[in-house]
Amino acid sequence: MDSIETARQGAGAAKLPFRPMLVGGDWLPARGGGTIAVENPARRSLIAEVPRGTAEDVEAAVAAALAAFPAWSRIAPRDRGRLLTRIADVLEADAEPLARCIAEETGNALRTQARPEARGVAEIFRYFGGLASELKGETLALGEHVLSYTRREPIGVVGAIIPWNAPVVLAALKIAPALCAGNTVVMKAAEDAPLGVLMLAEACQRFLPAGVLNVLTGTGAECGEPLARHPDIRKLSFTGSTSVGRLIMGWAAERIVPVSLELGGKSPCIVYPDADKDWVVEGVIAAMRFTRQSQSCTAGSRLFLHRRIHDRFLDRLKAKVDGLKLGDPLDEATDIGAIINRRQFEKVCGYVRDGLARDDARLVTGGLPPADGPLAQGYFAVPTIFAGASNDWRLAREEIFGPVLVAIPWEDEAEMLRMANDSHYGLAAYVFTHEIGAGLRTAHRIEAGWVQVNQAGGQVPGHHYGGVKQSGIGREFSLEGMLESFTQRKNVSVNLEVPSRAA
Ligand code: NAI
Ligand code: MG
Repeated sequence: MDSIETARQGAGAAKLPFRPMLVGGDWLPARGGGTIAVENPARRSLIAEVPRGTAEDVEAAVAAALAAFPAWSRIAPRDRGRLLTRIADVLEADAEPLARCIAEETGNALRTQARPEARGVAEIFRYFGGLASELKGETLALGEHVLSYTRREPIGVVGAIIPWNAPVVLAALKIAPALCAGNTVVMKAAEDAPLGVLMLAEACQRFLPAGVLNVLTGTGAECGEPLARHPDIRKLSFTGSTSVGRLIMGWAAERIVPVSLELGGKSPCIVYPDADKDWVVEGVIAAMRFTRQSQSCTAGSRLFLHRRIHDRFLDRLKAKVDGLKLGDPLDEATDIGAIINRRQFEKVCGYVRDGLARDDARLVTGGLPPADGPLAQGYFAVPTIFAGASNDWRLAREEIFGPVLVAIPWEDEAEMLRMANDSHYGLAAYVFTHEIGAGLRTAHRIEAGWVQVNQAGGQVPGHHYGGVKQSGIGREFSLEGMLESFTQRKNVSVNLEVPSRAA
């Protein structure tokens, strides 16, 4: 996948590899000539440059997607599905270079994160490729005099904006269902992690007609906003922060176009008194996504621990968390990599300082990052747990997007549920107990789009993934999600009792 790398012709600038963006089947620099340097956050070194796309590039990409739409939308769904499956084959064969690219640009550890992400991308294309024949309509039983049926039609050009935390999986989760359903796509990658997404685009472009998929790089303000506001974009699909999601929804409202939003979270992780077990400790660590530096919207970042087991459980948790290895993302022994960039790193440190400054907070493990030694070479945040927390603390209310967990004691189930639901977010939740009744009762009462009982895995294709409250609207990751988010129903009604031509 090296063919898109070209030498940069910059005057006097460091010779960083330049990765162009995909517009109308061509690999191009930004029309304005600007570039964005991509940093490896584990070493704080620049690794590549990408175009700094602006409104002019958005214009060209949307025009290309609009021109490609009629032909693409009329291809038989099974044939579109076959192309997605061929993309999956290429992605599967090339998963390792993609994994290394993701590890380098995001700082995510190769073994625990980047490699599973790269493999997951192929699976997503294979899943949606296989679903193409399910774009079925219905026949309505309105009587013998009429044939009334529905068609699932594509919406048009989809504008998609994605974040950096699992960049290639999140790109695939929009591209694969949108294309399967017959739409064309203009995607803007996140400025911190565009390289893996461009590799994905290259794999796609081997099989897709020009303009069906366009991938732009650039900042939110210069490239994301003109894309979201473009009059020819008929559907907006966004993953990222709640504050930007609110803007996107406002722009969708101006044009009355449908929008899917996958936003932040502050998810509860609930441990019942019968669950003081090692496998639950592992589950809490998995839920917190510590091995992704907790840069995950589904992080179970509020730990509701029953008071009866509170101290013992935290001792076990501390022992396990302290055993996780922080370091070079490319080292196979590394469990936890680096925070994406300086801004996020400083934001996370600010929350740690906030906890350290509280008299009522007990630091169980972690704290501020080391000021010297190998970890000081990158944006490495140490897994940190504060106990004795209250659900009212800023640490318990705001999405930190870093490895800072707060443990909140509980005794009464109703009060615990009240606290768990006292959040403007509602994305995920985790419940650990041997008692099936308690597990399901809690699962049903929690306000979240996804509740896991006695497990803390990642999303799998087919699962209805998405949030409630300010965590977002819409679902995209399943057959039903594709149908709801990337098609529109048309009803056709035909009168079967027309008088004969002779009459
Ligand atoms: P962000 O929401 O600013 O960025 C996500 C995407 O939106 C990027 O592609 C960005 O370029 C684009 N964007 C930013 N401003 C835009 C605008 N005005 N118009 C159109 N597009 C725009 O997220 P950021 O700044 O990277 O992270 C900040 C916080 O957001 C994190 O600390 C975390 O709390 C949350 N977040 C949540 C994510 C999730 O998966 N739900 C992913 C990333 C961040
Ligand atoms: Mg970076």
